[in-house]
Amino acid sequence: MKRQVLNIKIRQQNRGHGKVVFPKGVLSLFLVFSFVLSSCAKHPASVPISKSSSASLKKTHPKFLSQLTEKMYGLKVIPENKAYQGISIRALSAFKHPTGKTSQEEKKIPLIQYGFKIFNNTPKEMGGKIVGDLLSCGSCHLKDGRAPFGTSLVGVVNRYPRYSPRDKRVIGLKQRIEECFERSENGKEISKTGKAMKALLAYFAYISRNTPPGTIGYGYGLKPLLLKGALSLKRFKPSLKIGEKLFVVNCSKCHGLKGQGGMDQKANLFAPPLWGKQSFNTGAGFNKLKKLIPFVQANMPYGHGGTLTPEQAEEIAGFVLSHPRPALHP
Ligand code: HEC
Ligand code: HEC
Repeated sequence: MKRQVLNIKIRQQNRGHGKVVFPKGVLSLFLVFSFVLSSCAKHPASVPISKSSSASLKKTHPKFLSQLTEKMYGLKVIPENKAYQGISIRALSAFKHPTGKTSQEEKKIPLIQYGFKIFNNTPKEMGGKIVGDLLSCGSCHLKDGRAPFGTSLVGVVNRYPRYSPRDKRVIGLKQRIEECFERSENGKEISKTGKAMKALLAYFAYISRNTPPGTIGYGYGLKPLLLKGALSLKRFKPSLKIGEKLFVVNCSKCHGLKGQGGMDQKANLFAPPLWGKQSFNTGAGFNKLKKLIPFVQANMPYGHGGTLTPEQAEEIAGFVLSHPRPALHP
């Protein structure tokens, strides 16, 4: 409740100072969008949705979002109920391998299970020589890489090989996996022929099994609407004061006041670090506002994604990225 009150106050402040400038249509779309989501999340709806907004409302329909995703990635989107159906990866990870005769499919299961383990417990599975922070792949690719708009990787096997603007050449999926190790994991390359790489590839093939060649799952990657909105970033200068206030209220409870991450009573990390020595490095995608903003807006505070406005997510992301973090290849 307290959060809502603060949110509204800051939203008004923003408007007054004209700090974050969105094209008019986009702004109203965003506001409507966040109201819709906040009411879905059973938050007390702060502002009722007016009738005149209903036209913009349609644009936040899954079909509209899918169209934007298709444009962004150039691949056809498979609807959520189809892309995510079948045995859950959690169920598969508990699967005991049968003894005796096994089918070709069953033979693949242990490798997929190992890939799942690496994905969700990267520092422990790969060790400190490879991984240089406390993040797992699953810290950013939420819900086992299967959360719509939570950097989803459902269909990732169909995106590669492709031209990488960063590398200025065509790269394969193995190379792209290495890049998340070097940047987001602040670590080192892993062997391209080793068991860990094979396991991650098997895992990605498994979560992509309902997305045939030429397609990706609903909600692939990050939320396109917000990436569009982030174009205003050219003019965006985060106000660290507003960002800090919003961070303390909405994020610090889990990620710590110093962004150091949070431990539970048994000293297990439950929320990963956002900056400092144990966080992703300066080469990571999340070190860019245009990637961090849509992630934060759609997914954080954890369990309440969509409750922050894009403007608030911008201020918070600006505050998060104002702190030091490891350099790429120091
Ligand atoms: C700090 C957050 C973070 C961590 C940790 C992380 N990633 Fe990523 N990853 C990203 C972001 C951001 C993108 C780019 C998403 C986009 O542009 O839509 C990405 C993209 C990818 C892609 C390419 C997707 C595409 O369609 O091009 C792959 C593959 C990938 N990550 C695998 C991994 C693996 C494997 C790990 C663990 C070893 C990992 N990531 C850890 C943030 C992270
Ligand atoms: C209720 C606890 C909670 C709150 C509140 C919360 N987060 Fe998170 N956050 C998490 C958890 C848990 C993860 C990792 C998800 C996983 O491992 O499945 C995460 C992951 C992240 C990540 C990607 C991993 C990393 O460390 O870089 C970012 C960025 C992030 N949160 C930012 C924020 C911001 C910004 C806020 C405030 C708007 C916030 N979070 C609020 C729990 C929380």
